[in-house]
Amino acid sequence: MVQEKTAMGDVMEAPGLSDLLKGEVAVVTGAAMGNGEAIARGFARSGARVVLSDMNAEALAATVASLRSKGADVIGVTGNVASYADCERLAPKARAAFGDVSILINNAGICRRVPAEDDDFIGSVEAQLTVNGLGSVHMVKALLDQLKATRGRVVNIGSIASFVATTGGIGYGMSKGAVLLMDSVAQIGC
Ligand SMILES: NC(=O)c1ccc[n+]([C@@H]2O[C@H](COP(=O)([O-])OP(=O)(O)OC[C@H]3O[C@@H](n4cnc5c(N)ncnc54)[C@H](O)[C@@H]3O)[C@@H](O)[C@H]2O)c1
Repeated sequence: MVQEKTAMGDVMEAPGLSDLLKGEVAVVTGAAMGNGEAIARGFARSGARVVLSDMNAEALAATVASLRSKGADVIGVTGNVASYADCERLAPKARAAFGDVSILINNAGICRRVPAEDDDFIGSVEAQLTVNGLGSVHMVKALLDQLKATRGRVVNIGSIASFVATTGGIGYGMSKGAVLLMDSVAQIGC
C-alpha cells in the first residue's frame, strides 16, 4: 500500500508494510533526528525492533519516547561512533534487549565546510574522517559476531559526495569516498 504521508512525524501512522521487517533487530546510528530518525521510524513501523543510537542524549530520549508512545519496540543507547569503546558498549545492550542484531544502519555523520585558510581546517577534516569513515568501521567491528550469527546486513550511508567532488568539501568528500570504498572492499572480503 502506498504511504499517504511522508512527513517524519506521520511515518508511524502510515498504512502498510507493518510486518515486512518482523523478527529483525536493527541498529540505527545518528537516530535522534534527521535521516536516522526517519529510518528508525520506518523500521519500527515495518515490525523491526530497533536500537536507536546517538551522541545527543536529550534528543535521543525524546525520539525514543515518541516512538514508544506509538507502540514501537525500541531502545535508545547513547554513544559516539567516533569512540570504539562506545560502540563496544552498545553491542551487549542491543543483544540483551532484542537478541542478535540483523541490520546495521551506519547513518551518524557530520558535514563541516571549513575553508583551508581557517585554523580549524585540519581539525574539521579529522573529525569528518573519524565520524563518517571510522565510525562505520567501529560499529561493524563491535557488532561483527552478532551480524555473522544472523547473516545480517550493513548499510553505510554515503552521499553524492561519495561519487563527485563538491566545493569546500575536502573532509566530507574524503570521508564519504571512504564509505563507498569500505562497501566495495567488504563485498570482496575484508
Ligand atoms: N541531509 C542531507 O542532505 C544528506 C545528504 C547526503 C547524505 N547525508 C548523510 O545522511 C546522514 C544523516 O544526515 P542528516 O542530514 O540526517 O544529519 P543530522 O545532522 O540531521 O543528524 C545527524 C544525527 O547524527 C548524530 N551524530 C552526529 N555525530 C555523531 C557521532 N559521532 N556519534 C553518534 N551520533 C552522531 C547527531 O546527534 C544527529 O542526531 C549523514 O551520514 C549524512 O552525511 C545527508
